[in-house]
Amino acid sequence: MQTNKTVAKRADLLCFSLSACQLPKIIIIGVRKGGTRALIEMLSLHSAVAAAENEVHFFDWESHFQKGLPWYLSQMPYAFPDQLTVEKTPAYFTSSKVPKRIHQMNPDIKLLLILRDPTERVLSDYTQVFYNRLQKHKRYQPIESVLVKDGEINLGYKALNRSLYYMHMQNWLRYFPMESIHVVDGDELIRDPFPEMKKVERFLQLEPQIKASNFYFNKTKGFYCLRDHGRERCLHDSKGRAHPHVAPAILQKLYQFFHEPNKRFFELVGRTFNWN
Ligand SMILES: *[C@@H]1O[C@H](CO)[C@@H](O)[C@H](O)[C@H]1NC(C)=O
Ligand SMILES: *[C@@H]1O[C@H](CO)[C@@H](O)[C@H](O)[C@H]1NC(C)=O
Repeated sequence: MQTNKTVAKRADLLCFSLSACQLPKIIIIGVRKGGTRALIEMLSLHSAVAAAENEVHFFDWESHFQKGLPWYLSQMPYAFPDQLTVEKTPAYFTSSKVPKRIHQMNPDIKLLLILRDPTERVLSDYTQVFYNRLQKHKRYQPIESVLVKDGEINLGYKALNRSLYYMHMQNWLRYFPMESIHVVDGDELIRDPFPEMKKVERFLQLEPQIKASNFYFNKTKGFYCLRDHGRERCLHDSKGRAHPHVAPAILQKLYQFFHEPNKRFFELVGRTFNWN
């Protein structure tokens, strides 16, 4: 292992050759299907933020992690010296090795975690996989058969596990204090993005810059779009796809299943969310 100092030096050189870039000071760690794309797009409205285009998967993919911090840096966008670089990789939140690795890079980093109702998130997770398989003409299992096995909630279903927020959060809190982690309410961000984004701005100690007029509701889409210096952009159409129909009895079972895990999460973060 190299010491941090030598890594930083090499990183500086590499960065210089790439004009200018910085390791992130902010990471959006998840959750998958929580609204991470919307969050990073909205955060990009702020002039002090430089956002990485792609999901970098540095801390969770061994093949990337082995390339070291210089490679990570090379994946970052151009940034002015007074800008904060941010990247988002939703898989970080549920990967148990990631918190330690991020802490080793920078114990003072600011982490953003965007969460939605865990049942909704499972359905959304399923829907994404469903559409991917449909596109590739692969077979897919109906949602009921992955959610339930022998009449019980199927704990082996990975999407279900990803929604056990308290379990993953415990990993993060081993390395970071709660003051370093801001939880964005993903359901609120969709419903009314401006107030949620003001909270993010405050947490990051950014100069107040994001305005209500940066957001406008697109009635056709049923979602907010962004307006930035006269330019308008909406998120990709795959965001906000209709969920599959799930038998009410199974939906009820899911909500019940998450009741206790949710309570544990609320205790962990000292805050409640409007999840049923
Ligand atoms: C969920 O995932 C975690 C970490 O990947 C694992 O330790 C745990 O056993 C899983 N839980 C269930 C119920 O499958
Ligand atoms: C609103 O959404 C529709 C449907 O996606 C799109 O065609 C249209 O360009 C959007 N209009 C604005 C002003 O964003």
